[in-house]
Amino acid sequence: MEKSPIEKKPIIVAIDGPAASGKSTTARILADKLGYIYIDTGAMYRSVTLKALREGLLDDLRKDESGISRLLRTITIGFQGDRVILDGEDVTEAIRENQVSREVSFISSLKLVRDKLRELQQQMGRKRGIVMDGRDIGTVIFPDAELKIFLVADPAERAKRRHVELSLKAGGAAVPSLEELEAEIKQRDRDDEERTHAPLKRHPDAVLLDTSNMSIDEQVNVVHDLVMKIVGQS
Ligand code: CDP
Repeated sequence: MEKSPIEKKPIIVAIDGPAASGKSTTARILADKLGYIYIDTGAMYRSVTLKALREGLLDDLRKDESGISRLLRTITIGFQGDRVILDGEDVTEAIRENQVSREVSFISSLKLVRDKLRELQQQMGRKRGIVMDGRDIGTVIFPDAELKIFLVADPAERAKRRHVELSLKAGGAAVPSLEELEAEIKQRDRDDEERTHAPLKRHPDAVLLDTSNMSIDEQVNVVHDLVMKIVGQS
């Protein structure tokens, strides 16, 4: 049977942007539509953070980051469908806990951590045919990605989305207020933009997409159309 344009020319779609801008939702649905693999690199940084927290390393790491090397030597992070597997354990829910969200920007700022995850992520994309989302995918991990997208949205809108997401998962338990979430999101954006190694920034070739007033379907369709244009050009 004749191969479809998508199969003939598998590409890399790099989606970057600030916290809660809709990257993961867009990337997951897009990958599904294209029959591509989806890699949530934020989940990988969250997994390293969870492990460092469990091993009680955070205080020491703030003084001397070399303490993370042993952890990085033995860690295994993988995906099984939608599930995130850390050292053989399903941590999909655990990595979304507040304590992890609060510490993940610090752990992500460490050079040793970024070096290790860069290697893993580049390995995962070597056959192309992937959608990868994060903060530095278009700038550092795959600067040669055929399509780079930079998603943004108003901080207030992003806080609202995160609030809905957390409330749905909380099953009646208390969730942070909108104000707290907006403050936390803004702080994380600042930390990610201001760090030395692989800061959050738009690659000059990345398509800027403001999703503040877009539905999920709309944002997926915009990116899907861009992919079809690229693969159609082969
Ligand atoms: O989903 P949310 O927007 O909350 O963030 P995430 O994608 O799960 O990423 C969590 C954190 O990991 C970010 O705030 C960054 O500090 C870090 N990260 C990174 O440094 N580089 C990436 N490629 C992905 C995430």
